Amino acid sequence: MSTISFARGVPAPECLPVEALADCAKAALERDGHAILSYGPSPGYGPLRARLAEQHGVDPSRIFLTNGSLQGFVFLAQRLVPGRRVLVERPSYDRPLKILRGLGADVVGLDCDDEGLDPDALERALAGGEPPAFLYLIPTFQNPSGRTLPLERRRRVVELAERYDLLVLEDDPYGLVRYGGEPLPSLFELSGGQTAYSSSYSKTISPGLRVGWFVFPEELARQIEATATATYITPVLLGQATVNEFLDRGLFEPNLERVRSLLGARRDAMLAALGRDLPELTVNRPDGGYFLWGELDGVDSGELLGRAEEAGVTFVQGTDFGAPPETLRLAFSFVSLDEIGEGVARLAAALPAAAR
Ligand SMILES: Cc1ncc(COP(=O)(O)O)c(C=O)c1O
Repeated sequence: MSTISFARGVPAPECLPVEALADCAKAALERDGHAILSYGPSPGYGPLRARLAEQHGVDPSRIFLTNGSLQGFVFLAQRLVPGRRVLVERPSYDRPLKILRGLGADVVGLDCDDEGLDPDALERALAGGEPPAFLYLIPTFQNPSGRTLPLERRRRVVELAERYDLLVLEDDPYGLVRYGGEPLPSLFELSGGQTAYSSSYSKTISPGLRVGWFVFPEELARQIEATATATYITPVLLGQATVNEFLDRGLFEPNLERVRSLLGARRDAMLAALGRDLPELTVNRPDGGYFLWGELDGVDSGELLGRAEEAGVTFVQGTDFGAPPETLRLAFSFVSLDEIGEGVARLAAALPAAAR
């Protein structure tokens, strides 16, 4: 029996446009091989920077491409964090939390509810104590909770950032992976470009290409450039040029539609299976992204995880993201529709032993 993973927050294999990307990589190398195969500018491949600058309405000098957005997060944290407070949502994506702690940050988790970050909690944190290095926020289809911050709260966060001179990093890799509902303006847009923004082609094209980007305030862009140059000289230009070719050929939108349809069907299948087989789990219904967030009254999800692994299914405990023990994250992005049904049945079978 092979284990079914509701833990892996990665796209299902059929989401990856392998043949189209092979063509794009070849074309990019043939056209621009001497630049792509050498060391280049540390902020990344010029044509893709220019495209993103236009998309965001900023000067290209503010666009910074990195080997996945996580690499850029590390650069930012190395610059700003050591010895300082960093505000995060509680729960929040576990990897940045580990990076921040590894750099000696005082990581302060702010209260969230079903609508995401509570702006009053942010205001309290800003009113007391040392000014934080930054606020790390995933306002749309959050990892791990799938939650989306409503417009009013976005406005308040932007107002508070302005009032307290707070740098906000808005991490937005899932915003376009939407299965329903209407898009909201980003904090970056609401702030007139004052917010630092990051996103990635990992969820819309391919994570293996490792192409993420940031829009930084000018001065920060210069500082991060120095860190990037000192670290790896230049990011992987082949991945960036391949993405740029994919975009040039008009393949992005049709691919995104395909991904939305493949993953939207998985979200629906998981919700239907949970409703049928595991009604004890209270779960949300995000309009996009990769994750459902669940809560089991009176059950420790660590206990359930142990039983579930024996039964052949995995997920991630809420405690890994700084949330209470009754919570858990279920990723529907990686598994097939059949695996979703079988995995939920295994989870349901594992519950009685964990609930005792
Ligand atoms: C919120 C969030 N930010 C960043 C990343 C990483 O993106 P990248 O592949 O661009 O490093 C992920 C990946 O799961 C994520 O969930």
